[in-house]
Amino acid sequence: MSEIGVGLLGLGSVGSGVIDLLFENQSKIVSRLGAPLSVTRVCVRDMAKKRTVPLKGVEITDDPMAVIRDPSVKIVCELIGGTKEAKTLVIEALKAGKHVVTANKALLAEHAEEIFGTAKKHGVDVYYEGAVAGGIPIIRTLREGLAADRIESIHGIVNGTSNFILSLMADGQSSFAEALASAQKSGFAEADPSLDIGGGDAAHKLSILVTLAFGVHIPPHKIHREGIQTIGSTDFKFAERFGFAIKPLAIAKEHGKHGIEARVHPTLVPKHWLLASVPDAKNALYVRSFALGSSMYYGAGAGGMPTAMAVISDLIEVARNITSKSEGRLPARSFQDIKSATIYPDENVTSRFYCRLSLRDKPGVLGKITNILGEYSVSIAQLIQEDRTPQETAGEFASVIVLTHATKVLQFKKAMADIENLEDCLTKPVVLRVVQ
Ligand SMILES: NC(=O)c1ccc[n+]([C@@H]2O[C@H](COP(=O)([O-])OP(=O)(O)OC[C@H]3O[C@@H](n4cnc5c(N)ncnc54)[C@H](OP(=O)(O)O)[C@@H]3O)[C@@H](O)[C@H]2O)c1
Repeated sequence: MSEIGVGLLGLGSVGSGVIDLLFENQSKIVSRLGAPLSVTRVCVRDMAKKRTVPLKGVEITDDPMAVIRDPSVKIVCELIGGTKEAKTLVIEALKAGKHVVTANKALLAEHAEEIFGTAKKHGVDVYYEGAVAGGIPIIRTLREGLAADRIESIHGIVNGTSNFILSLMADGQSSFAEALASAQKSGFAEADPSLDIGGGDAAHKLSILVTLAFGVHIPPHKIHREGIQTIGSTDFKFAERFGFAIKPLAIAKEHGKHGIEARVHPTLVPKHWLLASVPDAKNALYVRSFALGSSMYYGAGAGGMPTAMAVISDLIEVARNITSKSEGRLPARSFQDIKSATIYPDENVTSRFYCRLSLRDKPGVLGKITNILGEYSVSIAQLIQEDRTPQETAGEFASVIVLTHATKVLQFKKAMADIENLEDCLTKPVVLRVVQ
């Protein structure tokens, strides 16, 4: 069977991984596909940069349109990242009748309608396994493996950077700033880490997962998100004492006609949950569905080779569609018609809460706290005031930790607003939800 030509836009971590892995596994790929899959053209930004991957016979250019227009290129593989130029190029490729494989979650989450709409109009495929949880085949699982099932909820660790930072802090050796610096040094965090630690990256991924699981679209900016920046070493100590780990979760649940709940935040996870022991920069997804029950998916959520593996699996899939003339066989977003979602309001969500208060250490203050919580029907499961540390003694304040029973987010927020307004409450409380 004749060769399937691939044009690569971008030769960074993932693009280089694609070249390396295609070279390494070429004979297995040919034998699985029944035809050679070859990168014929590559586009980079800086032609002078030294490349270390095997590029014999590959034409290199800095003109992406030369790749897109090349008649030998049947599949355009977008691996440059970002949402501006990548979007223009993906749309151009689709309009030129080229299938697209990408690992760009920001692009797909923010411009889903335009990209998938253009693909449908031009009868071509868009595959994106590398866009969520790197090498873990969660997109294929939701779209194909669970196609007969009804997804009820997803709890995922989908941002490796945040998991790496929280895992280091949990060891008790690092503050948030030190853990972030370590993540940057080890290549797990960008120079500007805000999208990772603020929950933006996880919101992009959750937006994609929601569509695949429930057949509706929630734009990433409408997903409730909290970052991991406010968590201190003390919180790990108390979480441990209550029997929890702190993990960066992306959560989506279906509430029937009341809509879809979708949120991203650091979360107290019971130690006996598998998600509690997902270490370092690893990713994992725990899916509950009607027929299968619980299932769990774990692995490398980023990195050149794991993500390249997902990208090449997509290239193989598209190549199979081409050779069997079955393009468009799979709905790219799992369902034939994607509706815009009714969003289940965050304030109606029920959760247990962990809260660390920094209070003036004088008689009567604890009473005020318990009264306010009681006023809003927030029931206390545990309340701890530790002996003061030397710093706390010097500043005449004390840390008080409250773990609540399940309560409506709205009620808890109102109580916290009143507590924050007390002149005895010295800093903004640290609040974390407990997973349910
Ligand atoms: N890295 C991961 O672990 C990972 C995991 C999952 C998903 N992803 C996604 O995969 C995509 C690629 O990530 P990456 O880490 O491989 O990025 P990267 O290392 O920064 O590489 C980007 C590549 O794109 C090229 N490029 C950038 N702008 C260009 C332009 N305007 N025209 C032509 N080439 C351009 C760069 O060229 P030069 O080499 O000449 O600078 C570089 O080769 C992103 O969407 C990312 O979100 C990455």
